[in-house]
Amino acid sequence: MTTIGKDIDKAKQLLEQGELVGIPTETVYGLAGNALNAAAVSKIFETKNRPSFDPLIVHTGSIEQISEYTTTMPSELEALAKAFWPGPLTLLLPKKNIVPDLVTSGLDQVAVRVPSHPLTRELLLSLDFPLAAPSANPFGYISPTCASHVVDQLEGKIDYVLDGGNCQVGLESTIVGVEEGQITIYRLGGIEVADIKKAVGNVLILPQSSSNPKSPGMLKSHYAPRIPFIVGDLEQLVPHYLEKNERFGVLSFTKTFEGVPAEHQRVLSAAGDFKEAAQQLFAAMRYLDKQDVSVILSGEMPERGLGKAVNDRLRRAAAR
Ligand code: TXA
Ligand code: MG
Repeated sequence: MTTIGKDIDKAKQLLEQGELVGIPTETVYGLAGNALNAAAVSKIFETKNRPSFDPLIVHTGSIEQISEYTTTMPSELEALAKAFWPGPLTLLLPKKNIVPDLVTSGLDQVAVRVPSHPLTRELLLSLDFPLAAPSANPFGYISPTCASHVVDQLEGKIDYVLDGGNCQVGLESTIVGVEEGQITIYRLGGIEVADIKKAVGNVLILPQSSSNPKSPGMLKSHYAPRIPFIVGDLEQLVPHYLEKNERFGVLSFTKTFEGVPAEHQRVLSAAGDFKEAAQQLFAAMRYLDKQDVSVILSGEMPERGLGKAVNDRLRRAAAR
């Protein structure tokens, strides 16, 4: 049985024994194991049904600890680390041998991040190893943003989920690296592109797909609900589906639609607040996925600020 609680010592003990624990971060919940223990790392891949070509992010409790696992820190990335850590930023850095190849899927760079969630920071600072942690969902499904989401899907597969409440950011970290001297964003996420540009000047945003071998795991189809998910203009989609007399769910940024039962609708932020919308996104997708509907219709957010990252997740949820 999987239990939920706030017992950091219990989480610590399990991790020290090579077991996996669900941990809260400010972005999404992670499925954590000792990043230096290949057996624990291998358990992460098995538990998530994750293909071994999709590398994991290594989490530490402080910026200083990063250099134990990486050889160099380019000055631009150091500027980002100083500006945004602890926080929803992941950096790709050349790895030291102490990091098992399994963690990086054989790549010579490792993804590292210092999360800001207080419970997980305390846990990380109490451990003498870093934690490898992908989002705590079965591969390809919606990421969890509270402890019960983790249990819903990994019940019985792990012993414990450390309960840190609802994730404040609600989207995964922004992944940044340097490619041929160019600062590159590999995954849009909790830190906005504009804020990264403010800190380091111009950046390249890679198309969000798996075509780049340096960015494995960025699959076009991801975050997918169980039932079909359609992204488009709700002003056209909703009347069309009302006419078809089908039961459908509606995921909208600000607006509710007449003629659709309230329990089949989720509004991300009635006030049009981008941060709130991002926070609510994955829970809203999960909620609609559990309703008695045969399709979910979703609008998009304006393509700016966190809206870019939200739209990225919506489009990948729709891709099959
Ligand atoms: O916010 C987050 O980043 C959350 C929390 C738990 O920290 N974690 C997360 O992990 O989103 P995951 O496993 O769902 O996504 C990790 C992605 C991989 O799919 C891959 O695209 C990229 O990070 N990645 C990891 N290691 C990499 C590497 N060595 N080189 C290139 N990309 C890497
Ligand atoms: Mg994930």
